[in-house]
Amino acid sequence: MTKEEIILANQQYLFPSVFHYYKDPLVVTHAKDQFVWDADGNQYLDFFGGIVTVSVGHCNETVNKKVHEQMDKLQHVSTVFANEPQAALAKRIAGITPGGKLTKSFFTNSGTEANETAILAARCYTGSHEIVALRHSYHGRSAVAMALTGNASWRLGGAAPSGFVHALNAYCYRCPLHLTYPSCNVQCARDMDEMIRTSTSGRIAAFLAEPIQGVGGVITPPKEYFEIISGIVKKFGGLFISDEVQTGWGRSGGKWFGIEQWGVIPDIITSAKGLGNGSPIGLTVARPEVADALKGTTISTFGGNPVTATAAKAVIDYIDDHKLMINAAETGAYLRGKLEEMKAKYPIIGEVRGMGLMQAMELVEDRESKKPAVEATLAVLEMARENRLLIGKGGTWGNVIRVTPPLNISKSDVDDFALRLDASLKQVTQKQMATA
Ligand SMILES: Cc1ncc(COP(=O)(O)O)c(C=O)c1O
Repeated sequence: MTKEEIILANQQYLFPSVFHYYKDPLVVTHAKDQFVWDADGNQYLDFFGGIVTVSVGHCNETVNKKVHEQMDKLQHVSTVFANEPQAALAKRIAGITPGGKLTKSFFTNSGTEANETAILAARCYTGSHEIVALRHSYHGRSAVAMALTGNASWRLGGAAPSGFVHALNAYCYRCPLHLTYPSCNVQCARDMDEMIRTSTSGRIAAFLAEPIQGVGGVITPPKEYFEIISGIVKKFGGLFISDEVQTGWGRSGGKWFGIEQWGVIPDIITSAKGLGNGSPIGLTVARPEVADALKGTTISTFGGNPVTATAAKAVIDYIDDHKLMINAAETGAYLRGKLEEMKAKYPIIGEVRGMGLMQAMELVEDRESKKPAVEATLAVLEMARENRLLIGKGGTWGNVIRVTPPLNISKSDVDDFALRLDASLKQVTQKQMATA
């Protein structure tokens, strides 16, 4: 098919809700490591990595060799038969969860399903129904996952399932309580106590949150936030579920899981995306007594699939063998420095935030009013494309540039990225000044 035929077929045969970035959709034909190519043969530096999914580089040779071998050996059995790749993956994950405490896994195919499974397990374990999530969060596209999600534009379909409430997140740049850290004494976290007492029955099943809110705009809480929340949630009988769909597997730098940056050991971790490096996988890993409470018949046809389980274990081994958690911390700090330099140059950048190789810049019309610069964000994305750079977009108002490259990039890739993004910001700023 030609590029035009692909775009036309997309319009004719896909739900229009399958939206694409850019005015003219980018048709990607192939990819390798940190690069992707379009249908016209142009090469792009990929600093979004799918949507935070390409953890060890596109078409990673070490991972794909194992996948190809497994594909020719055993492709499918479903969860009703045992298979070695699933067992080996579960054992590998049990060895790296925080404190070694989360040792039993349930595999599915997506982050959405991983969160569904976590909610089910928490309800079975506690006998309670109500769930607390955070405002500005994103947790997936099923009915339950949309009810968890604290961002109205991602909550489609009208009536949401009952039993979900949303607490204050630590969006310090736009503090919901109009306070300033650290003199605020992290009131947003402390509010959880009153929120649970006033807005729930007082017996909750779980609190579920992303350590860093990805889709919400890489919102990164201060160091005390989750520890305070964790104490309150425990007091009301709830489990702590960490949604590590974006933050897992070393992305935040130096640790396997994002929540470890806050010194909290959760009861359940969910993940997906970067675990498979592009192979569809969902993971719910829990303390054994929580996992054991999910009794009764339940299956996942493709959960623990031998091919995807092989891919996921190969990804974890690759991250470990190549010390990519360290690279995420070091190259992430280098990247952060470059973004801060751009902030010093361009007033349109209101804040730079994130951890490791999960960074972002929030664009504003001016730093005083902090009015979200929505059009300019779109313009930067388009301009970056012209400059052969792929970056992501996010935030409640769509004014956050997300930067989440593969974990095995080097500092010279960051230099290349910085040149291209700087040029894009300059072009957009100049255009704005010319039309002002
Ligand atoms: C934090 C988080 N949780 C859950 C999901 C849902 O994952 P999936 O799209 O694989 O269902 C996403 C997807 O972006 C996510 O970012």
